[in-house]
Amino acid sequence: MIQQIATRPYSDQRPGTSGLRKKVPVFAQENYAENFIQSVFDSLSGFAGKTLVIGGDGRYYNDVVIQKAIRMAAANGFARVLVGRGGILSTPAASHVIRKYGAFGGLILSASHNPGGPNEDFGIKYNISNGGPAPESITEAVFARTGKIERYLTVDTPDIDLGMIGATQVEDMTVEIIDPVADYATLMEELFDFDAIRALFAGGFSMVFDAMHAVTGPYATEILVRRLGAPEGTVINGAPLPDFGGHHPDPNLVHARHLYDAVMGPDAPDFAAASDGDGDRNLILGRGIFVTPSDSLALLAANAHLAPAYRGGLAGIARSMPTSAAADRVAEKLGVAAFETPTGWKFFGNLLDAGKVTICGEESAGTGSDHVREKDGLWAVLLWLNILAVRSEPVLDIVNAHWREYGRNYYTRHDYEGVDSAAAAGFMSGLQASLESLGGRQSNGLVVTRADSFAYRDPVDDSLTENQGLRIFFEGGSRVVFRLSGTGTSGATIRLYVERYESDPHALDQDPQATLAPLIEAANALTGFKAAIGRETPDVVT
Ligand code: G1P
Ligand code: ZN
Repeated sequence: MIQQIATRPYSDQRPGTSGLRKKVPVFAQENYAENFIQSVFDSLSGFAGKTLVIGGDGRYYNDVVIQKAIRMAAANGFARVLVGRGGILSTPAASHVIRKYGAFGGLILSASHNPGGPNEDFGIKYNISNGGPAPESITEAVFARTGKIERYLTVDTPDIDLGMIGATQVEDMTVEIIDPVADYATLMEELFDFDAIRALFAGGFSMVFDAMHAVTGPYATEILVRRLGAPEGTVINGAPLPDFGGHHPDPNLVHARHLYDAVMGPDAPDFAAASDGDGDRNLILGRGIFVTPSDSLALLAANAHLAPAYRGGLAGIARSMPTSAAADRVAEKLGVAAFETPTGWKFFGNLLDAGKVTICGEESAGTGSDHVREKDGLWAVLLWLNILAVRSEPVLDIVNAHWREYGRNYYTRHDYEGVDSAAAAGFMSGLQASLESLGGRQSNGLVVTRADSFAYRDPVDDSLTENQGLRIFFEGGSRVVFRLSGTGTSGATIRLYVERYESDPHALDQDPQATLAPLIEAANALTGFKAAIGRETPDVVT
């Protein structure tokens, strides 16, 4: 029987860059998750009799919210929910399942690369029928609804056993527990030349994939070990844990340092990779080299034609604004369009749906293509493997050849985390107000050509998204960008993105931090950001 439960609004349920993210104790408040889920349903129409996909990255509190979501979906009139066994679906797998089964949408329970546990992070994101994150028109409607909500709908049923594949009825709704890996693994098999990759492994190619005790463990084991014949032991930390073993499941040079050390050390593997909490990010390393996400996007785009799915070429390439312009150079050479979008995968959805782009990426270790509507960590790893299998060259040589051909976009991101929110906001608004006066100013030998606040007009639906980062451009094509993170759960995070283009073939192997230091000094001198936020050094450098 459908129950209507009275509730009161919470004022802090505005979705950020990627859904609603809060600490578990916040989500555990009375009706907090229910309010948000009901607000999602209340902001949608036409789902009666349709299918909803529910999945998550297995983090702490997943199981609790999945049961709530199932009951509420039944009460709100969905005919069917598809749930990954154990409540598990990586974010790209959820995107694929939504598309493959023609679902109305999906709820993805994850806080991505943020830590998990009773006092750590949790999140809920709604994805639409194309498999991608809901656009801002929906997320803003959801937020408006959370401010007014007075009741939610649920049914009184026992918990569903999430461990067994099969179907159960909850009132008029069917709950189908599906294999979380099978559909996704099959999709990968369709996109890539598995025979070539199998031959690569059979020839002794060595690889380490760190699943970081997060969702990709079962996916990587099935695909890399079972289907592609990589030796047992290729996948490390492969068992998903609710607290990710106490680590940050963030595949970057800080939290996956051991992989970097491995490829730089003696007996280095040919290739190393990692993915994050929910499986949408990737880290790519080869013997002797870390491939920055911006470079990886450019390299994947330039070599995608070596994989069966992209043999016919790319329609276009999209990158988020803070991502380096390396991919733009590839687009130019290929004679295809390049798009620059705000941060967050949701902005790629329209371009992919309209067939304007095939490959997209973000500097934050996200790369993907039109095969789903999320970034996809294992997809990036498999495309790299496919390219390595065809080219039979080490990663290092491939990257060096790319830089010789296109020049190198030196790039780094400095994160200042847990900054006092008022200080961060004050700095950003002060800088915003002074942008126009920066043009022509000189600092540290660098001349500012112009400065602006990035805004994006979506070429498909004409929507305008403003205030997406403050950019300062310098003569010679260098730039720095200041941007407030939209995914943090405590204080403010300021991200400083720094880029310099180098075409001199003799200057392609500099240390990025050293070569970019003068730009960072100039940015500080021009804006006074370190003093404004009370920080001397960044917390994370990637
Ligand atoms: C961060 C990344 C962004 C990515 C998002 C979700 O968002 O910078 O590229 O799309 O996580 O994975 P931010 O915290 O910067 O808002
Ligand atoms: Zn993620």
